[in-house]
Amino acid sequence: MDSARPHERPTALDRMLAPLHRWIWSDTDRRVQKLLRFGETETDGGRDILRAAEVTPDPLLRRLYLEHAIDEFRHGVLFRHRAAELLKIRRSHTNNGFQGDWLAPGGHGLDDLQVDGESDIDMLAFLHLSEKAAASRFTVYRDVMQHDPPTRAVFEEILHDETFHMNYTLTQLARVEPERHRRHLWRARLSRLWKTYLRLAAALAGILGSLLLTIPYFVVLAPFAWLAKRAARREHLGWAMLSPGRTDSLDRQY
Ligand SMILES: [Fe+2]
Ligand SMILES: [Fe+2]
Repeated sequence: MDSARPHERPTALDRMLAPLHRWIWSDTDRRVQKLLRFGETETDGGRDILRAAEVTPDPLLRRLYLEHAIDEFRHGVLFRHRAAELLKIRRSHTNNGFQGDWLAPGGHGLDDLQVDGESDIDMLAFLHLSEKAAASRFTVYRDVMQHDPPTRAVFEEILHDETFHMNYTLTQLARVEPERHRRHLWRARLSRLWKTYLRLAAALAGILGSLLLTIPYFVVLAPFAWLAKRAARREHLGWAMLSPGRTDSLDRQY
């Protein structure tokens, strides 16, 4: 699809996080993991949009959703192919370290999409904001990818489509709900904000949980180990004679 307007500028937050994104993407193993995950998100998003094309009563939206779904499936393939190429270049262990997913959840946000029961208005508002977020992040990813021109080209190509998706969803939202489309956008924005909060809270809870489990490990286990070692040092080696008063135990099992 061709973009109707110039590319979206990245948000202030995405621009601020550019050094962190540069660091995340600098590692080849991490890049492969992220590309594979992005591929999955794009394909899942495409499947949901395909479902939206099936259920919408609006013929124009059906055609646009269908083209949109095809684009997202293609993005999934592009990400997976690039990940496979990188894997061929560098066959190494999977890096299970920091991926920064809570900072860039699949790059897209389409993973939160629920089609059944959604009206076209809510669907378009949600899609517009997701595509806008994707366009913003993919602009930053493309810009921090100077060290890897083929991956940069993948982002450049996908960014072109995401910008179109961002624009057509807004145009269609204004068409189907000319009076109150801004109100729907704000509602969708608040919903995304709430989901972002939940995602950050879950990440923070994970970090705090690990800390709270690690602290007792050192606070309780270390003194206990020290006391056990001290007691062991006081023990005599080999057989020890029992004092006369302690021979009772021979009369019974315990
Ligand atoms: Fe996409
Ligand atoms: Fe998209």
